[in-house]
Amino acid sequence: MLYVFAMNYRHIYHAGNFADVVKHLVLALCLEHLRKKDAPFFVLDAHGGTGLYDLSSDQAQKTKEHQPGIAALIKKGAANTDAAFYLDAVRRDFAKGHYPGSPMLAARLLRPQDRMIANELHPEDMQVLKQNMAGFANVRVTEMDAFEVIRANIPPQERRGIVLIDPPYEIENNEHEIVAAQMQQWKKRWANGIYVLWYPIKGSLPVRDTLVEAATALGLPRTWLCEYRGANLPPLPGSDRGDRARMNAAGLIVFNAPYQVPERVEAALMEFAPVLGGGAETRWLVPDKSYQQG
Ligand SMILES: C[S@@+](CC[C@H](N)C(=O)[O-])C[C@H]1O[C@@H](n2cnc3c(N)ncnc32)[C@H](O)[C@@H]1O
Repeated sequence: MLYVFAMNYRHIYHAGNFADVVKHLVLALCLEHLRKKDAPFFVLDAHGGTGLYDLSSDQAQKTKEHQPGIAALIKKGAANTDAAFYLDAVRRDFAKGHYPGSPMLAARLLRPQDRMIANELHPEDMQVLKQNMAGFANVRVTEMDAFEVIRANIPPQERRGIVLIDPPYEIENNEHEIVAAQMQQWKKRWANGIYVLWYPIKGSLPVRDTLVEAATALGLPRTWLCEYRGANLPPLPGSDRGDRARMNAAGLIVFNAPYQVPERVEAALMEFAPVLGGGAETRWLVPDKSYQQG
């Protein structure tokens, strides 16, 4: 089935905000876990965005969401090793006024034997992503619908790796319903892959409840939920988008969460919370039973 979406979302308005920070911390620690074994791994970034965001652009400056997010964290620094690992991965770009998106962070953590597909459906963003990934020999950029690219590439030949699912959830597209249905395909095709699924939490949106319910029912081992709430962003001046304009909480569901990554994320977020404001709530949706992962 081909999904045709209205594509209005542009990530540049949100790059480096608290939700990006939490998502990219989780992604970086999952990749760090995979790097512990020499065997190659595969990364599929199904909603890649452009890979690098200019924080001085008009769009980023309109919202300034990076300021209480990554900018505040870089300024403060971190003592926790994992928090510092993420900040170090961002620092080089930040010094040049940029924030690296998920494909850039992941590409830098690949070893020569690893492989990544970075996918983006928006034609202009895909071209920018292609330019930003040009220096990475083991990254292929595709322009497919996210759910088609996942279907076409799992299970990967490497048999270990991670899929990042990071849709904009534009409500007219009902993407949360599609994601909830697609999970069953992922389980059928590649039940021991690591899946990192991001979602926004807003009072008016049904996304969270649908996804949490579906993920719990799916029953994949070590299904872990991490939500970050209470980054009190001021209302967007002149916004005509009502309560959709600002998002004060977001979550991640990780299937087959790698050993100790949840605990390490929790510790890192304890250090970030006083700077970001608010805090994390985490829990297992499906606990570990007989945990064995490559
Ligand atoms: C939240 S952004 C991705 C941010 C990126 N993962 C990161 O963390 O840096 C979502 C991206 O998905 C793209 N997109 C929207 N619908 C899509 C679809 N059906 N298939 C692939 N990409 C899609 C949007 O153009 C947007 O660039």
